[in-house]
Parts: sequence; C-alpha cells; structure tokens
Amino acid sequence: MKGKFIVFEGIDGSGKTTQINQLSKWLIGTDIIPENNQLVITREPGGTKLGQSIRSLLLDNSIEKSPDSITELLLYAADRSQHINEIIRPALNKGNWVISDRFCGSTIAYQGYGRKLDIKLIKDLEMIATQGISPDITFLLDIPVEESIKRRINIKDDRIEKEGRDFLLNVSLGFQALSEDRKWKKISAINSKENIMSEIQSEIKKLIQYK
Ligand code: TMP
Repeated sequence: MKGKFIVFEGIDGSGKTTQINQLSKWLIGTDIIPENNQLVITREPGGTKLGQSIRSLLLDNSIEKSPDSITELLLYAADRSQHINEIIRPALNKGNWVISDRFCGSTIAYQGYGRKLDIKLIKDLEMIATQGISPDITFLLDIPVEESIKRRINIKDDRIEKEGRDFLLNVSLGFQALSEDRKWKKISAINSKENIMSEIQSEIKKLIQYK
C-alpha cells in the first residue's frame, strides 16, 4: 500500500505527542504498516539536523535578541523546505508513511493569526517550501486556551509560548478557521486519550478503506 502523510496540529498542550505515539504503535501493531522502518515520525520545527539548529534559534529563550516576525517566518519556512526535501518527500517516494507533529497550518495560525503577518505572504512561502506536497489528512486536536494554559502550568514556556493568553487565543482562532477551510478532522482533545485515539483510528481506516 502507498504511504500516507498524516499531520497533527493544535495549540501547545493539546496532546499531539501522546496521540502520535499511540497512533504509531497502532499502525505498526496492525497490518497497515508491516515494518517499523516504513513509518517516519517527525516534527516541525526540527525534523532534520539543520532543522534542529533552526529550532533552537526559534524557540530558545536565552537568545539575547529574538528574531523579528518576518525573520521568524522565514526560519519556519527554511526548516520546512529542508524537512520536505530531506525527510518527507524521500519517505513518501519509497511508499513509507510519515506522521508530522505540526506542518504548514502552524505557520498560518501562529505567524498569521498570532503575529498578524500577511496570510498571502505565508501561503506563497508555503508553496515554495512544500513544492506541492500536502498531507493526506490533518488532525486538529482542539482544546480551549484555558485548558492549554492549565496543562502547561509546570512546564517552562519556550519563546513562542511566552507570548501569553491573547496571542494563544488568536492562534486558536486561526486553527479553527483552517480546520474549516482545509477540511481537517477536528477532534475534541479534552476527551479521554482512548476516545481521541479511537476517533483518529476510525478516520485513518476511512482514509485507506481498511476493513
Ligand atoms: P512544539 O514542537 O512544542 O509544538 O513547539 C513548536 C513551537 O513553534 C510552538 O509554540 C508552535 C511554534 N510554531 C510556529 O510558531 N510556527 C510554525 O510554523 C511551527 C511549525 C511551529
């Protein structure tokens, strides 16, 4: 079977990592993906070696002078371009599956709705960076902003998370709008982990017409 490209989006604390881990165990445990090496779990920013350096530049709080908004946008685009060329396209070409924690939607939500950068500019950069590759399915793990703040109370904020409640509210609005526009699967992430996983599994089964 040809591989699929699956993306998880959502505000910080929405439980993407947990669900990605569960989903990969389930995919390997069924006959959907026969071999471990046919599944690539990755993330943005930081899915490649170069991307890991870009990630530190983007998220490190200790950097003396933060990048301005356009520089930030270009760094996310650079990370994505490398990610597409080094990891995502080669894996899909081999017929492997790819699950990415965040992709283009995050840039529209955070830099577009959060930082208020021009959405058209962001979409143009998306086209340059992705070179025609788009997810087969995107899950939006949806939690209220208050819940996100509550869940992260004991976790040190990175540079973007530090922006605070109003910023996060705008980002969340961005994700809601994208989920409508791009026909994402929106899943309420305040349900139990098991319920969330079973919704995800049933969407994947639909995607590949698995009996
Ligand atoms: P995460 O890996 O913990 O989800 O953190 C990545 C952070 O980077 C998160 O706060 C969202 C932010 N981000 C953007 O602002 N724009 C983007 O395009 C991406 C991929 C992430």
